[in-house]
Amino acid sequence: MTGLGIRSGATGTRRGGPPAALTLLALLTCCARCAQPEPSAKPSNILLIVVDDQDLVLGGMTPMKKTKALIGDAGATFVNAFTVTPLCCPSRSSILTGRYPHNHGVRNNSLSGNCSSSAWQEGPEAGAFPVFLSKQKYQTFFAGKYLNQYGQKAVGGVGHVPPGWDQWHALVGNSQYYNYTLSVNGKEEKHGERYEDDYLTDLMTNRSLNFLDNRSPQHPFFLMLCPPAPHAPWTAAPQYQKEFLDVKAPRDGSFDKPGKDKHWLLRQPPSPMSNGSVDFLDDVFRKRWQTLLSVDDMVEMLVKKLDSLKELDETYVFYTSDNGYHTGQFSLPIDKRQLYEFDIRIPLLVRGPGIKPGQTLPAPVLNIDLAPTLLDISGFNLSSLNVDGQSFLSQMAPSLRNGTARPFFLIEYTGEGSPTSDPTCPKLGPGVSHCFPDCVCEDSYNNTYACVRTVDGGQNLQYCEFADSESFVELYNMTADPHQLENIVKKVDPSVLQAMNQRLIKLQSCEGDSCRHGD
Ligand SMILES: *[C@@H]1O[C@H](CO)[C@@H](O)[C@H](O)[C@H]1NC(C)=O
Ligand SMILES: *[C@@H]1O[C@H](CO)[C@@H](O)[C@H](O)[C@H]1NC(C)=O
Ligand SMILES: *[C@@H]1O[C@H](CO)[C@@H](O)[C@H](O)[C@H]1NC(C)=O
Ligand SMILES: *[C@@H]1O[C@H](CO)[C@@H](O)[C@H](O)[C@H]1NC(C)=O
Ligand SMILES: *[C@@H]1O[C@H](CO)[C@@H](O)[C@H](O)[C@H]1NC(C)=O
Repeated sequence: MTGLGIRSGATGTRRGGPPAALTLLALLTCCARCAQPEPSAKPSNILLIVVDDQDLVLGGMTPMKKTKALIGDAGATFVNAFTVTPLCCPSRSSILTGRYPHNHGVRNNSLSGNCSSSAWQEGPEAGAFPVFLSKQKYQTFFAGKYLNQYGQKAVGGVGHVPPGWDQWHALVGNSQYYNYTLSVNGKEEKHGERYEDDYLTDLMTNRSLNFLDNRSPQHPFFLMLCPPAPHAPWTAAPQYQKEFLDVKAPRDGSFDKPGKDKHWLLRQPPSPMSNGSVDFLDDVFRKRWQTLLSVDDMVEMLVKKLDSLKELDETYVFYTSDNGYHTGQFSLPIDKRQLYEFDIRIPLLVRGPGIKPGQTLPAPVLNIDLAPTLLDISGFNLSSLNVDGQSFLSQMAPSLRNGTARPFFLIEYTGEGSPTSDPTCPKLGPGVSHCFPDCVCEDSYNNTYACVRTVDGGQNLQYCEFADSESFVELYNMTADPHQLENIVKKVDPSVLQAMNQRLIKLQSCEGDSCRHGD
């Protein structure tokens, strides 16, 4: 990388101009007069951590004591952060592009659904935010899980390094803790099962610390770290495998409640669940928390490193997840993919310049807002950007930007199925998927839906339409019924349904500006 004069006047190759000290004085005088940020100042650094399947609603942040102290208490905690689609690959694609799935075209976790497909590589990936951060002269570093099908031979294998990344340490395929392959800047690197050498969360921490030590200080940096935790197979570091042994999945809200007034998938599980299912989900719940302790260490080590490099006050640190998760809600044992709070709400904590410590922010923000927010921080001209989301810099740092919160938004999901029946559940036939334990299915081709969520003053509704054989509709009053126990579609005035249906139709084909304003 060459020193391209990000800080004007700071390097010694000027020809015939005034001495640097004079230029600086002139700039300072100008800045005092016009109170504008000095345009050629080095933009802030950014660290973005995106974990895999961490819920907010079931206490997913409870084990993250250091993260809450070092990011949330030192900055802003968003209490209404959502993914626009509750599944890893479509959600990660939305984070990277700032777009809804109907605009980036990634529908599921398969190549055929565009997860890391050639069409993705040629289209949306080539215009994803890392490309623009790189154009803004950031030094960029990626480590961890990228997209579920990343590294497949059919789409370039480990040799495919997406544009915009200076350093690339990406996991081939889906989350693993041991026995995995990485693409290290396009070269294959295999890992076994020795904790000291291979535990993926720790390896990512070590390599990111190393990157920070060796960066070139004249450029801002961007790190994106995507740890496997707390995704299956839930392998905790050895020192954490005895933690939380008395913890059980929370029994409140919709835990083990029958979903009898909901779409067909929610009417199929036996309720109450079998004791075997409950034991299984309690065990998963504990192990998820155990794996997160290594992420909590990662956050602590990175914040300490930034502090020791004297970069902490110049760095935005974001912590979030790709989607939520459930353990027993509406008698569904474990997974995501549903339209309910536990699957669509995500943690979002941010610290950084201009963000007052200890803020709890109610403004609704979406994962498609991350890309424009990061680019806003970098000084990129957002009006030239093709995204559906909007920067939330104004929400967390009102001294830096003006802006308004959105009144409503879209959640969209395309159901995944299997063309053949599951040999362990032959009675179910083809079309369903993730039917474990007790042959309770978490997904199906016939589980495609779209919802509009309003968070507008008095109105706090979620309205969902299914593209299923029943054209099923669900409506929840989120103020009166935060656990979504009662579908009120038959109780409300038809004009309410009509208005929500109109909004939904518009949002389902929105693009850019029309996604932000809707009406
Ligand atoms: C995959 O993406 C391409 C282009 O981005 C799009 O034309 C196609 O419809 C997408 N496929 C699916 C299944 O949505
Ligand atoms: C890693 O692979 C080895 C060899 O195939 C296997 O014996 C071991 O159980 C695997 N370990 C993990 C944690 O998956
Ligand atoms: C990470 O670095 C620490 C400290 O040097 C070391 O003890 C540990 O084994 C490393 N872990 C991995 C997976 O590289
Ligand atoms: C299931 O667990 C409950 C409560 O722990 C217990 O009362 C019940 O007997 C158990 N049922 C079976 C079939 O083991
Ligand atoms: C993913 O989407 C593609 C395109 O719609 C579809 O052909 C494929 O069956 C889907 N995969 C799964 C597992 O549902």
